[in-house]
Amino acid sequence: MSINYQDRIPNNVDLGSNRTLQRALEHWQPEFLKWWQDLGPSDFQLSNVYLRTATSVDAKGWATYGYVNMPDYRWGIFLADRDPNRRIGFGDNYGQEVWQQIPGEFRSTFRRLIVTQGDTEPASVEQQRLLGHTAPSLYDLRNLFQVNVEEGRHLWAMVYLLHAHFGRDGREEAEELLERHSGDADKPRILGTFNEPISDWLSFFMFTYFTDRDGKFQLKSLAESSFDPLARTCQFMLTEEAHHMFVGDTGISRVIRRTLEVMKEIGSDDAVALRNAGAIDLPTIQKYLNFWFSSSLDLFGADTSSNAASYFANGLKGRPDESQYEDHVAAAETYTLELPDGKGGAKTEQIPMRNAMNEVTRNSYVKDCEIGVKRWNRQIEKAGFSARLSLPSTRFRRNIGSWAGIPTDLSGKQISREEFESKKDQWLPGESDTAFIRSLMQGVFQPGKMAAWIAPPDRGINNNPVDYEYVKLH
Ligand SMILES: [Fe+2]
Ligand SMILES: [Fe+2]
Repeated sequence: MSINYQDRIPNNVDLGSNRTLQRALEHWQPEFLKWWQDLGPSDFQLSNVYLRTATSVDAKGWATYGYVNMPDYRWGIFLADRDPNRRIGFGDNYGQEVWQQIPGEFRSTFRRLIVTQGDTEPASVEQQRLLGHTAPSLYDLRNLFQVNVEEGRHLWAMVYLLHAHFGRDGREEAEELLERHSGDADKPRILGTFNEPISDWLSFFMFTYFTDRDGKFQLKSLAESSFDPLARTCQFMLTEEAHHMFVGDTGISRVIRRTLEVMKEIGSDDAVALRNAGAIDLPTIQKYLNFWFSSSLDLFGADTSSNAASYFANGLKGRPDESQYEDHVAAAETYTLELPDGKGGAKTEQIPMRNAMNEVTRNSYVKDCEIGVKRWNRQIEKAGFSARLSLPSTRFRRNIGSWAGIPTDLSGKQISREEFESKKDQWLPGESDTAFIRSLMQGVFQPGKMAAWIAPPDRGINNNPVDYEYVKLH
């Protein structure tokens, strides 16, 4: 089904046929736009940005490119097409018909799931709102804004479900999604990582690689849901989300490429020499990676969870790519969990598979994270250097789950609190690292020009050259 852009709210859900719902969303729309003006990208609202907008959800139409002023972006409501044969894919109701409406007993749980997902979308826009001023190129500036407008659209996706399926509570939740703010002392965003400031581009690339990837796995779990409108919403969000991770993956790779070039030029991997030459040394990149990876791991929740078990049993939230498993009911299976033994080591425990669903999803996520790290390491190897990047242990610096608050080194070996404190600056960005990274952050706004700490991308957007004027500043 294609999207009707004549409507005030572009949509492919036949909004026009439900006047009450349409009016409620049209009432929320100016509040959203006000939020965008207040807490979306600082400045650049009058710039012409070369953005992609969805005009249909199929392969042909979902990426249509053109210059847009961000406040005029057509944020809309797009669900993947309905599959009339779709059946519940997991849990106790496996094989039954999917739900077009929410069963009453799951109403409050679905509301919480949708609000939690919805809260992350505007949160990331708020976290990134000052980055435009220090963009390393117009290409990167455009990518930042593409991510931002799409996170805004993802908020619309969740708000549509709240309005369409939760009546007054849903409308109230939709308003609160614009009232909580990232890092706000009184009304913070729901999840910790989304209150961390993103004040430099290395953090932005790490965030889009690691934290947007958490988003991918959350969306994949919700795309399995028995509540069909939620599943179809998330399916379409996933196509947009892929670009966000592309930005992170290629961003980190370009930083590394530039570092390797400078390492060759000066014939040294000495951090001080590299920094003096304006490049980011690999150990600093590793520290940022350690920070954002460990922070993102917490987003999956506790490793043993009765909530996760009941979401799965009831068909609310599944495993990412459920079709890869043989047993979709998972009532008799167990999972081997590694827990701290209280004596400085680890012990294993068998828990019911359904209680381990957060951990199962986290493991799929970690595997996905490794793909980029392997690629970056090949890059380093090809350049003839022996240094390697790696993901820290999933036990490292955790705040949620069995390993929360237990000091470990990067390999996951338990150490004393004192040792952790004394080595923290080797493992995580310290003050001198963040000060150095910040010193590099200066906007570069001539077409085709790049900041000295990052290599140009291999290719431009939508077959345009790298030196295309991706943002026309005003
Ligand atoms: Fe998103
Ligand atoms: Fe995203």
